[in-house]
Amino acid sequence: MIKVNDGFSLLPESYLFAEVGRRVADFRSEHPDKEIIRMDIGDVSLPMFPVVTEAMLGAVADLADSRTFRGYGPEQGWDFLREAIARHDYKGRGLDIDSDEIFVSDGAKSDLGNLYDIMAPDIRVAVPSPGYPVYADAGIMDGHYGTLSYLCCGASSGFRMPEPSRGFDVVYICSPCNPTGLAMTREELSAWVRAAADMNFMIIFDSAYEAYVRTPDAVRSIYEITGAEKVAVEVRSFSKTAGFTGVRCGYTVVPKALKGVYADGSEVSLNSLWRRRQSTKFNGASYISQRGAAALYTEQGQTCVREATDLYIENARMLRDALSGIGFSVFGGEDSPYVWAGAGNGESSWELFDRLLDRCMVTSTPGSGFGSDGEGYLRLTGFNTAELTREAARRIRTQF
Ligand code: MLT
Repeated sequence: MIKVNDGFSLLPESYLFAEVGRRVADFRSEHPDKEIIRMDIGDVSLPMFPVVTEAMLGAVADLADSRTFRGYGPEQGWDFLREAIARHDYKGRGLDIDSDEIFVSDGAKSDLGNLYDIMAPDIRVAVPSPGYPVYADAGIMDGHYGTLSYLCCGASSGFRMPEPSRGFDVVYICSPCNPTGLAMTREELSAWVRAAADMNFMIIFDSAYEAYVRTPDAVRSIYEITGAEKVAVEVRSFSKTAGFTGVRCGYTVVPKALKGVYADGSEVSLNSLWRRRQSTKFNGASYISQRGAAALYTEQGQTCVREATDLYIENARMLRDALSGIGFSVFGGEDSPYVWAGAGNGESSWELFDRLLDRCMVTSTPGSGFGSDGEGYLRLTGFNTAELTREAARRIRTQF
């Protein structure tokens, strides 16, 4: 028998959303007559935007014609997409990010986990609790279990990030936060960027939900904060903004100014390390997905993103109202499709999950699955249709 990675023995048996899916499937087979409304995994309900469909059909036609056929693409992503991203998401907003600092991928989740590949084996990583489970699970799989720590962002601090502190070399920060739906203010994030420079740590900034930011003081990119290009990587996704959960496409920004050191003290650019990592283990997102993603940067594409995110925020509002109407403490749902809610009566997250499913036939994600500081809370998503969200809100108000 071969020796296996001990890290796996420290992980819960299933990935959080796989476990939720299994329990929902069990409930469905026990109650085939009940109409379940899914509000657990953050999967979108709107179909692909017409402007994206058209671009992807054009890409398929390119691949079907010997004159326009393309095989392997550039490892960092096609220029047409990286340039559109740099122009629209950064330079157009006054942020100095070049297209050679952008790495197109098959989504934020892979990049968030794969970034461990460029870290030293003994690096100390801090992850928020509650936080997206990939940050901790991927670190544990990669052997960082002895040096992983959790930053409490629990109920006592209103689920906000704590003040920056020492004791780690890399920290994952997510804003708007998955799972709590709260967006960091400029002041809060500035304090983290300053601390990263002063205390010598790196920030992995997960901004997969930036398109949901509506509060004027909340930041969309960490590079809005002066000096962030020297201390932070930013990870983004088209999944939740443009319905790419099945298509798969996202990107990571690794600024050229961001440096690391080898054990012998020699300096190296993280941009070049990430390029080396990606070109070795990844062959790029498909040409078809990248053409689809580029269409999002047209005027029509931007209108569709705005309309879709507005709709999901409105759904989140319905859930917020219903949950606060029955006396839950409710967070998020204003700069995010996620609503985070707790009964405050000592019921555990899984007990709340079961009660919501049994009484209302509404699924959710138990907050404890995002870390022990999420215990007693549930995450619901605004990603379902407006009609089913209205029905879920009605059931919560009348049956929970
Ligand atoms: C979520 O629902 O938070 C995630 O996007 C699901 C995932 O891990 O892929």
